Amino acid sequence: MIKKLLLLSIALVFSTAFSSVFAEGNISAGKAKSSNCTSCHGDDGNSMMPTFPKLAGQHAEYIEKQLFAFKNNDRNSPMMAPLAMALSKQSIEDIAAFYASNKISSNPLPVIYSDDDDEDEQVSSTDKSDDVKNLIALGNNLYRNGNLKTKVSACIACHGPFGEGNKPAAFPSLKGQHADYLIKALTDFKKDSRSNISNSMMHLIARKMTEKEIQAVSYHISMMK
Ligand code: HEC
Ligand code: HEC
Repeated sequence: MIKKLLLLSIALVFSTAFSSVFAEGNISAGKAKSSNCTSCHGDDGNSMMPTFPKLAGQHAEYIEKQLFAFKNNDRNSPMMAPLAMALSKQSIEDIAAFYASNKISSNPLPVIYSDDDDEDEQVSSTDKSDDVKNLIALGNNLYRNGNLKTKVSACIACHGPFGEGNKPAAFPSLKGQHADYLIKALTDFKKDSRSNISNSMMHLIARKMTEKEIQAVSYHISMMK
């Protein structure tokens, strides 16, 4: 309970701090300005490549925050940095408004590639689909309850019961995101390679997660609608 209240107060501090600098962009201007982004993020922000994040339906506040972070090199991405650097503040606001106005697509049930996991070499396809279901169940539990033993916070506290995030606080929506991108994002937080601000909430949380937990929660989130 105390933990929940603490999280809530963190969320409130964030929402007031961030909403004051947030300005609404223009959706149709944003669509025109997103032409350099479509090759990787798709026409409407639903990327086809599983390591390129979907932006459709993401909160504009969060998209803006990330684009400024790429621009200022606060978030490391050799791919995104030069693209963000070329965007004005107005373009960032417009593009964010455009992606936020679109709907995120849903994902098919994930397939587990087990070439680098040494536990089970020869498994039948039914065993594999059981594996996926078990992993998703583990991920669901972690998402809702966290891990008391290792003190991993419950994701639901900030990312919401449906993975919808928190718009004014710029906590990202996660539902329907590609599992591969989620795994990469969580691993980057864990290994301290996503951003220069290394003691952010997500760094502290991901550092306590096992690789299996990262995979499980990512599969679960990718199936949330
Ligand atoms: C060459 C491919 C490519 C192009 C073109 C591209 N992006 Fe990206 N974008 C990426 C990749 C890859 C990432 C994930 C980086 C990472 O793993 O941290 C990303 C991440 C992002 C994120 C962060 C999403 C999140 O959930 O945190 C935003 C926002 C974004 N891109 C916006 C844009 C915009 C706006 C444009 C056009 C101006 C654009 N991108 C063009 C590849 C691309
Ligand atoms: C105390 C609030 C809080 C909790 C609890 C929390 N997150 Fe986050 N999460 C954030 C914030 C804030 C960000 C945005 C960080 C940034 O701006 O780079 C974020 C970002 C993320 C991202 C990157 C999204 C993207 O599009 O790049 C993922 C993935 C994620 N969180 C997963 C989780 C998972 C899984 C859990 C539970 C194990 C969790 N989070 C718990 C606040 C939280």
